[in-house]
Parts: sequence; structure tokens; C-alpha cells
Amino acid sequence: MVKQATFSSAEDASEYLANHIIKKINDFAPTPEKPFVIGLPTGSSPEGVYARLIKANKAGLVSFKNVITFNMDEYLGLPPTNEQSYHYFMFDKFFNHIDIPRENINILNGLAQDIEKECADYEAKIKKYGRINLFMGGLGPEGHLAFNEAGSSRDSITRKVSLVPSTIKANSRFFENDESKVPKFALSVGISTVLDNSDEVAIIVLGQNKNFALDKTINGTKNDPRFPSSYLQDHSNVLVVCDNAAAGLTSKL
Ligand code: GLP
Repeated sequence: MVKQATFSSAEDASEYLANHIIKKINDFAPTPEKPFVIGLPTGSSPEGVYARLIKANKAGLVSFKNVITFNMDEYLGLPPTNEQSYHYFMFDKFFNHIDIPRENINILNGLAQDIEKECADYEAKIKKYGRINLFMGGLGPEGHLAFNEAGSSRDSITRKVSLVPSTIKANSRFFENDESKVPKFALSVGISTVLDNSDEVAIIVLGQNKNFALDKTINGTKNDPRFPSSYLQDHSNVLVVCDNAAAGLTSKL
């Protein structure tokens, strides 16, 4: 089931999702023996959520000491020191500012020599924890989820993926608008990794350029491989947090 919470601004949407996550963690009351496991995305959309989680952590409203994280994806070939790597992003925007122990953080290694092993180990580590309590995500403008591009199958798991031209174009804004600088491959959790291991999936969708993807996610044909986010309809507990622009309501206000 997909629930939708729509807000007039990106700020309000981010605030709502951050509070939702804080409540989930606090209600769970995680301990070292029973940690709260969360899946995390990169991209500009979750930045406001991370900023609010940091604020709440510093204010003592939530702790990440007993939280385990699994990031969705990473570019292949970028070292963690590269500012465009998702490693760098996550530490810069979130992990460096909260009380999470380094060993609780899991991100696919874009420099792995044995890619198959890296992906299999990641998938196995998620399974070892049993369930992901909450998988936060974003949407690509054409409906990709993590780096699951059009054509990804419902049963896909963590693997190497090729980025499609539209993703390379969209993400070139972080690479001096030079498409040739954007990695052509990435490692990504699969659709099954997200849907079949998580109790809840919460996606944050902001801005008018996500209107098409959001519509396909919620109203499109279920499980349409052309729009991988439509697989979310196959999960029993999905929360879509969006702003009016993404929901296509802006012109009607
Ligand atoms: C990248 C990430 C996705 C993310 C998407 C949207 O492609 N791999 O996980 O959802 O960007 O990013 P943004 O929120 O910046 O539009």
C-alpha cells in the first residue's frame, strides 16, 4: 500500500520525514543486541532530511548509536575521497555530524576488485540483520530507484548496473555539467533488496522535475519495468513524502 503525504514546501516535507524517522527509531528503542536498521539514499532530495536528523541528534532527541545503515548505491570507480562519491556525500552530509559508530555504516565499495563478491557480501549482510526496519529512498526523474534503471527486474538484488543516458545527464550537474566525467557504472541494491527485506519504504520526492516519476510510481501500472519505482506498489507499507511541485499541484494553487 502506498500512502502519500504532500506538503506545500520541500522544507515541510523534509521536516515530516525526519520526524517520522526519529519517531520510528525512538519507538523501536534500539540496543546493541537489537539495532534499528535503516536504508539510506543520496541525492539532493534527502539533504533536508539529513540536516534535520543531525539537528535532532545534536539536541539529544534521537541517537544513532544503535542504528545500522545500508546505503543504496555507489558509483563504480570513485574512491571515497572523491567529492562526488556517495561515500563522501554520506559522511559530509550526515555521518560526520551524528553519533553513529563507524562500524555501523555500510556503503558499497566502488573500488572493489571483486565486484560480484562485494555485491553478494552486501546482500548477505543485510540478510544477516534479518529486516531493514525502514528503507528511505529518492526517485530519479524517470522513475529509477537507487540505481535500478528502466528494465530492472522485480527480483533484482545488489549488483553492478549501467547508468542510462538520462541518469548520466541528470547527474552531470554534480560533475561540472560534463557528462563525460560521470561514471558509467554503479553498484546498487536491487528492487528485491529494497522491497523484500524492509518493513517500510519511505521515499522523499521533491520538485517539479519529479512529477512524471511520482505519477508513474503511484498511479502507473504496477510492476512496470520501464519505471522501476512502480515496483513500490508491490510493497505493503510505502510512505511517499512529497511537495506540491512533485505532486503536480503547483499550477493549481
Ligand atoms: C541518484 C541516486 C538515486 C537518487 C537520484 C535522485 O541517481 N542514485 O538514489 O534517488 O539520484 O537524486 P536527486 O534527489 O538529486 O534528484
